[in-house]
Amino acid sequence: MFFITFEGIDQSGKSTQLKLLAAAMEKAGVPILSVREPGGTPLGEKIRGLLLGPEHTAMDPWTEALLYAAARVQLVKEVIKPALMEGKVVLSDRYIDSSLVYQGIARGLGVERILDLNLGATGGLMPDLTFVFHLDVDASRQRLAGRGTAEDRIESEPLEFHRMVEAGYRQLEELYPGRIVGLNGGETPEQVHARAVAAVNERLGFSL
Ligand code: TYD
Repeated sequence: MFFITFEGIDQSGKSTQLKLLAAAMEKAGVPILSVREPGGTPLGEKIRGLLLGPEHTAMDPWTEALLYAAARVQLVKEVIKPALMEGKVVLSDRYIDSSLVYQGIARGLGVERILDLNLGATGGLMPDLTFVFHLDVDASRQRLAGRGTAEDRIESEPLEFHRMVEAGYRQLEELYPGRIVGLNGGETPEQVHARAVAAVNERLGFSL
C-alpha cells in the first residue's frame, strides 16, 4: 500500500523510530512489513557481508554503489513489491536516499547518476514518505562509541565523511520537500515518535 523509508547517519535513532511506528501501525490493525538495507534476501545478505566487511578496504566507490544497488534490486523484487501488492505498508530502514547521500554525495559519484542507476534497477520504485533523522555528527560518534561493538567499513570512515553524509541528507530534504520529512534525532524517542505519527497521519491519511 504505502512505502515508508527511514534515513539518517548512524545512531540517529532511525531504527528505533521504525520499530515504534511499526508497533503503532500493528496496534491500529495496519498490515505491515519491516525490512532493512542492505540485505533482507539470501543474496542481499551475502552482498551485505561484502559491503560492510572491514577487510574490503580496496573497494572502489562504483563497486560499492553497484553492490548497494544490486542488494536493493533483490529486496525490491523479492520482498518489497510483493508486500505492497498484498496491500501492506512497507517500512524500510534505509533505501535509495542512502545511496544518493553516501555514494552520490559523500563518495562524490553524483546524485543524478546514482539516482538513474537506482531508478533503472528498481523499476522506479520511490518511497511515498521518507523520514530523515538529523543528528549532530559528534553526538553520533559519541553514541557509536557507547555502543561498544566494532565499527563496520562505512562507520570507520573519517569524521569528514560523516559530516558530508549529514549535510547531504539536508540537501536531499530541500530537494524533495514533498516526500522527505526531517526530524530531530536529538529529541527524546517519544517526542520524535509523536512527530513521525503526526506526519504519517497528515501525509498518508492514517489515524494512528
Ligand atoms: P547498517 O549496519 O545497516 O547500519 P545502520 O544502522 O547505520 O543502517 O549499515 C549500513 C551501512 O551502509 C551504513 O553505514 C550506511 C551504508 N549505506 C550506504 O553507504 N549506501 C546505501 O545505499 C545503504 C543502503 C547503506
